[in-house]
Amino acid sequence: MKLPHAVNVLLLGSGGREHAIAKKIAESQRLSKLYIATGNGGTASCGINVPDLSPVNFGGIKQFVISNNINLVVVGPEEPLVKGIADYFQNDSDIYHIPVIGPTMAGARLEGSKSFAKDFMVRHNIPTAAYKSFTKDKADEACAFLETFEAPYVLKADGLAAGKGVLIENDIESAKNAVKTILGGQFGMAGNSIVIEQFLSGIELSVFVATDGKNYKLLPEAKDYKRIGEGDQGLNTGGMGAVSPVPFADKEFMDKVVNRIIEPTINGLIEDKIEYNGFIFFGLMNCGGEPYVIEYNVRMGDPESEVVFPRIESDIIDLFEGIAFKSLDKKELIISPLKAVTVMCTSGGYPGDYRKGLTIEGVNSVENSIVYHAGTKLEKGVLYTSGGRVLCVTSLGDSIQECAAKSYAQIEKISFEDMYYRRDITKDLI
Ligand code: AMP
Ligand code: GLY
Repeated sequence: MKLPHAVNVLLLGSGGREHAIAKKIAESQRLSKLYIATGNGGTASCGINVPDLSPVNFGGIKQFVISNNINLVVVGPEEPLVKGIADYFQNDSDIYHIPVIGPTMAGARLEGSKSFAKDFMVRHNIPTAAYKSFTKDKADEACAFLETFEAPYVLKADGLAAGKGVLIENDIESAKNAVKTILGGQFGMAGNSIVIEQFLSGIELSVFVATDGKNYKLLPEAKDYKRIGEGDQGLNTGGMGAVSPVPFADKEFMDKVVNRIIEPTINGLIEDKIEYNGFIFFGLMNCGGEPYVIEYNVRMGDPESEVVFPRIESDIIDLFEGIAFKSLDKKELIISPLKAVTVMCTSGGYPGDYRKGLTIEGVNSVENSIVYHAGTKLEKGVLYTSGGRVLCVTSLGDSIQECAAKSYAQIEKISFEDMYYRRDITKDLI
């Protein structure tokens, strides 16, 4: 099976990741029409935004897909996947033939349930931190288990908690209090059970594959910068910048990642009879040259997408066709040898309270770099901020240093009130 030659695509999501995907789709030779629901001020230049269609309004999406002759649905964020958008399409006789890029609920549990993901890794011999999970009524046992570890203590609410479900505590008393906080309902349903695990010490990186459930293609790896402050200080954010490729992910290390993590994961999905057509994001820790999985995500990373997609040279609709119809082995994935760096600009106060609706100036003056919009809105030709992470500037070049210098030079041209960005993105690597 194949997609028609000219494809109408509906892309779900509204962040920087979706702008990066939308731009790649817009460059495809095979695109007829691209719609983005809900989209942002940047995706508006790649296709048609559908601002009233929420990515979790499955009934509305069905109507839209039928009315607009959509041939392919690409899901950016995890929420529609965990809520079952791929299953919804498969089980509806009007739309079952339209492929969805993203796993069914069964596969999305790799991200949606930390205890499912940990059990999966143990079952398939995939290296990860030692752990145990406890349900709500087992707080005492959870506290006793904490005593078997040394500080720091890692505690995770089991379900989706918008990236906020992980607590790392430096002493046993705060760790025990954190057990009570999580199981006491602070994270809603996500806190119905808790995972306690060994602290892994090392450097993090993000590795991605596209898979049709049988074959896979390795995408460029990336490293993101999670903390708000320079020198990796302060609160965790969605990501303040990213770089690809990652210098310490050399061939020896990546061979270990493929042999010990990626292939056992794909084979594990097959063994467990979990269909998977989409992306897998491996959040890894490099512990002295040995890779461990910290987490799986069932979508691409953000802001990693803003350095991964610009390095993909082959046609993205061809890649989606391979993912959808189990023919990835027949597709060619061409990766640019150039490096890429992105620097995120945020609204003052983020990741705490911040203002929205601030006028953004200067985006059109940026030259030879790409501005990916994350939280922006275009109204009557004027660009406004609409989120905490507002936009990022990606540059390609022969060296990481050159890319970072280009992005920082171009950022100078952009302004909005209280704009903030880290000035040390990639400094740890060069
Ligand atoms: P997660 O939501 O699982 O990605 O966790 C958020 C962040 O917490 C990760 O990006 C790591 O920085 C950190 N983290 C999670 N698990 C561990 C662990 N076992 N050891 C050290 N750091 C961890
Ligand atoms: N940048 C990390 C993530 O997308 O989860």
